[in-house]
Amino acid sequence: MTSKEIRESFKSFFASKGHQIVPSAPMVIKDDPTLMFTNAGMNQFKDIILGNAPIKYPRVADSQKCLRVSGKHNDLEEVGHDTYHHTMFEMLGNWSFGDYFKKEAIEWAWEYLTEVIELDQNRLYVTVFEGSPDEGLSRDDEAAGYWEKYLPKERIINGNKKDNFWEMGDTGPCGPCSEIHIDIRSDEERAKVDGALLVNKDPDVIEIWNLVFMQFNRKADKSLESLPAKVIDTGMGFERLCMAVQGKVSNYDTDVFQTIIKAIGELTANTYGEDAKKDIAMRVIADHIRTIAFSITDGQLPSNAKAGYVIRRILRRAVRYGYTFLDQHKAFMYKLIPALIETMGNAYPELIQQQTLIEKVIKEEEESFLRTLDTGIKLLDKQITETKAKGQTVLNGADAFTLYDTYGFPLDLTELILRENDMTVDHNAFDAEMQKQKERARNAASVETGDWVQLKEGDPEFLGYDSTECETEILRYRKVKQKNNEYFQLVLSHTPFYAEMGGQVGDSGWLINGDEKIEITDTKRENNLAVHIAKVLPQDVTATFQARINSKNRTATECNHTATHLLHEGLREILGSHVEQKGSFVSPMLLRFDFSHFQKLTDDEIRKVERFVTAKIREDIVRDEKRHVPISEAKAMGAMALFGEKYGDDVRVIRFGDSVELCGGTHISSTGRIGSFRIINESSIAAGIRRIEAITAEVCEDHYYMQQDILSEMRSLLNNAPNLTQTLRKFFEENSEMKKKMEEYVKEKIVQLKDSVIKNKQVVNGIDTFILKGSIPADMVKDIAFQIKGQYPQNAAFVGITDAENKPLLTLMLSDDLVNDHQLNASQIIRDAAKHIQGGGGGQPHFATAGGKNRDGLAKAFDEILDKIK
Ligand code: ALA
Repeated sequence: MTSKEIRESFKSFFASKGHQIVPSAPMVIKDDPTLMFTNAGMNQFKDIILGNAPIKYPRVADSQKCLRVSGKHNDLEEVGHDTYHHTMFEMLGNWSFGDYFKKEAIEWAWEYLTEVIELDQNRLYVTVFEGSPDEGLSRDDEAAGYWEKYLPKERIINGNKKDNFWEMGDTGPCGPCSEIHIDIRSDEERAKVDGALLVNKDPDVIEIWNLVFMQFNRKADKSLESLPAKVIDTGMGFERLCMAVQGKVSNYDTDVFQTIIKAIGELTANTYGEDAKKDIAMRVIADHIRTIAFSITDGQLPSNAKAGYVIRRILRRAVRYGYTFLDQHKAFMYKLIPALIETMGNAYPELIQQQTLIEKVIKEEEESFLRTLDTGIKLLDKQITETKAKGQTVLNGADAFTLYDTYGFPLDLTELILRENDMTVDHNAFDAEMQKQKERARNAASVETGDWVQLKEGDPEFLGYDSTECETEILRYRKVKQKNNEYFQLVLSHTPFYAEMGGQVGDSGWLINGDEKIEITDTKRENNLAVHIAKVLPQDVTATFQARINSKNRTATECNHTATHLLHEGLREILGSHVEQKGSFVSPMLLRFDFSHFQKLTDDEIRKVERFVTAKIREDIVRDEKRHVPISEAKAMGAMALFGEKYGDDVRVIRFGDSVELCGGTHISSTGRIGSFRIINESSIAAGIRRIEAITAEVCEDHYYMQQDILSEMRSLLNNAPNLTQTLRKFFEENSEMKKKMEEYVKEKIVQLKDSVIKNKQVVNGIDTFILKGSIPADMVKDIAFQIKGQYPQNAAFVGITDAENKPLLTLMLSDDLVNDHQLNASQIIRDAAKHIQGGGGGQPHFATAGGKNRDGLAKAFDEILDKIK
């Protein structure tokens, strides 16, 4: 079977067992502070499992794009070195929410593996949870009992908490699990060593499917509480399954990866399977290119923070392997996208639609990192020279760590270059630096979240599409500590507060009970839960409150949100339909819209877009909002959906005339209320991505007034000249002419002054002393001093006793022989003399100056300087 057939067979098998087949959720997670990326098929069902969302279908199945590169499930360092871990992989899964449990899960897994795709039963092993006295959990005899129907006892193996108790993260749903492993060795090898001995010990007997029997929620205090309903959560590694079905011994030998591996071979002139090190590099690149491309289509570009930084690091890891082992010193990975599209474009058409963008972004990232690598290599060369100069052959750990941390040099690259110089690195010191860094990061990021205090049962209801205030009660609350900051999160029974989502900021406002008014500073979303942020708790948390949002802010935000839709429409109209939304931010102050487009917008284009939007504002189009539209119907209406956004089956459609978008945000009732709109900034934020910032309504009016004020001020400064630009231009012309004349004048003046200084030379104690007095600007004095020094390099001193703009200045220049042979020090002399003018200064032994406050002291200062020269 091809990989495509395998994927389909899984879905149709579970459909035949009454499961609803659902689409994969995006791989990049935007609304769960505990997770950056989807790391398991169950993530998109977390709310259902925890009882925070209603169960729509009690049985579902899907194939989910997952990424395991951060947090509890992180396989990154293994990827490439072995043949069965990946950063991005597909997870086939089936779920039961309070419906069937262990018996059916086991029965169907067995039926699918042995009857549908006909894996050899004799090669299969299963594990069951052995129990954990610490947690008060006993062995999963129930699961073992069901397995005994299919397998002899010797092939049912006990597993510990690490392997057989699955947890999503540090907190969240969890439970004992049963894994199915397959022995992929040859018959000969199998005859020699019993596969049962290799389960969880040797990758030749490899886990393919994990059946989790979710019964608990792990709380922040580490205790377990029972889930509202028992849940089946299974996950099968699609790439491993393909390996088993296709009779291969490496995931990379299956049709999932072969096209990409071949393309890497052709691009870099290597053949996979010839050199162990190169093979690792090829696997790393084949794996990482998928992750990078899929994150970009999901809307997560490489960047220097959070999820974007994780993606950037993965990309850099691939570049490094290409650089070190495949000798690729120029960007090349972006050329692999066609091969990726050939393998996965069918199942994931977004790859085809966004091909140009993916290639541009990757190419630019590759090039910029290669430049960093170059700088790093130069630094390493310097470190090598310095280390050798000290007669040592071991590079110190701190230097290696700087290379790693700042220049993205992995230790293996540093070592490779060191080896060429017969050098090594101090591993222990490097590890110690790494440890320190980790601690610093941990301390900086530490957030302590307490457990929820449950006050009342009930499902929170959002009323904010229709009202700005309502009666409410607190369902639960918890305390959060972050560095020196402490606040509370509240979940309300009913709320008018919009929780931050889809780029629109959360509402602020108040919870009111009699005289008590608690400020809600922000409203965030955790999965589907609206969490209200308050600095303090109300005195009586069980009271009934009036929840009221700050309507002024909300209205301003709505103007910006609606304007964002109009802007989106305008950009597609004026620039073309390649424009796709890549991000947006909507607050009361401004709107920000990121989109794919390859050049800077011209002034003319910007104005056309502005005119488009303002025309729509004048049309005063009334909002047409439809809630609970089936997604297929919404798409048929032409509603614009974004890649990487999670849409339910029922969506909300917002229409303003021809602008139709799937949107959960809040909008102004008709476009006329936006009043005015202006683009205030247009820039690039990444290869192929532009950003527009714009303002509307009152903020826009204030902006005009500000501009108008500037203009009026200029006008009055220019004596109300009828033509401002012409007058200004004339000013600039005159100014530059004057500057030229001034420079000539200064030059002449300097020559004159210098000549007179030379003419009035005094000989003090045999030393030629040149004295400049008068009201002369400091830079002229300096200029003259240096000219004199050039002309009289021996046995000469220049003394400046000047003032300009009422500021007295002392200057002393000495010829080098006076400094070297006679130990005169201009700096010292000037500092001593400066006290007469109440000033200070200094400089070098041959040239020093001092400014002061007291002009009357200049004569005394002069005497003192001459005295010193004498
Ligand atoms: N959630 C389980 C896993 O990821 C199935 O292994």
